[in-house]
Amino acid sequence: MDCDGAYRMSTATARAYPNIALVKYWGKRDETLMLPAAGSLSLTLDAFATTTRVELTDTPEYEFSLNGVAQSGDSLSRVSRFLELVRGIAGSSQHARVTSSNEAPTGAGLASSASGFAALAVAAAAAYGLHLDRAALSRLARRGSGSAARSLIDGVSVWHAGDGDETSFAEPVVAPEMSMIIVTVDARQKAISSRTAMRRTALTSPFYPAWAETTEQSLAAMLEACRDQDFSRIGRITETHALRMHALIQSADPPIRYLSPTSIAIFDAVVALRDAGVEAYATADAGPNVAIISRPEDAPAVAEAMQQYGSVRIVGAGAGATLIDDPSLEATA
Ligand code: DP6
Repeated sequence: MDCDGAYRMSTATARAYPNIALVKYWGKRDETLMLPAAGSLSLTLDAFATTTRVELTDTPEYEFSLNGVAQSGDSLSRVSRFLELVRGIAGSSQHARVTSSNEAPTGAGLASSASGFAALAVAAAAAYGLHLDRAALSRLARRGSGSAARSLIDGVSVWHAGDGDETSFAEPVVAPEMSMIIVTVDARQKAISSRTAMRRTALTSPFYPAWAETTEQSLAAMLEACRDQDFSRIGRITETHALRMHALIQSADPPIRYLSPTSIAIFDAVVALRDAGVEAYATADAGPNVAIISRPEDAPAVAEAMQQYGSVRIVGAGAGATLIDDPSLEATA
């Protein structure tokens, strides 16, 4: 408290980008610590940013607004639980107001929870006065949403399954330069969240143990392909692993299907592109939108071929979550 009895306001703003996994994370071995069943690897993008401001307050509760709309229910409780964790580590008694905006459509499988919790982790750690290195920030972001651990890292990163909380974080991987062509087929919020679907898959799919085991093998092969700068092998592993994940999700009981007929048409069109000599490979997260990787020089041809399926954007490797200056704060300071 200040001498006049008011709490000193501490504020920080961070920006983070989504990441798209080339080796997918699907399933947890510890839901409290958010430890994944297997490691994964992704590309942090240079588009669809989330910008998040955290202000410590003397209010009795946490507040969270997203894209100008005050949040309640699950959305607010996920953010509040995360802030409780940060507040506990910092030994603070203050609550916080979180103001966030997403450039990507929220919940449409464009990894907005990854950029969301990565930005929140960086801004909240700073606002609560924690001095954490990148690995510690990645571990913290993981507690909000598993895939957020990877949005702390520039470009391609591996998120280690680890032995426990201390060792499950993301770190950079050297890989060849790639472009990603994002085809947005449907920007609406998905009906079943990844978290719910992941849990159901792990509990009910007879294929789940094989998935967890083979994902570590796919990751080892992917790390080798990155080290060898072998784009073709990276692409083959990416597409196979994505289709395996969607097959797994469809084998849950009751089944869940994220890919739409248009998504499937895009996967087929990517095969046709390869047959025509343009090397491209498709993947999709928990939604119908498809992300295609290519060498940078092939990206315009891939984008052109995808125009008929949805809105298309070519993106590249972006920066890990970081603190930014907030001009709106300077104006009110
Ligand atoms: C399909 O990270 O959103 O995008 O940890 O429960 O918050 P929680 O799940 P989340 O799941 C991402 C799943 C995925 C694959 C991936 O990003 O690796």
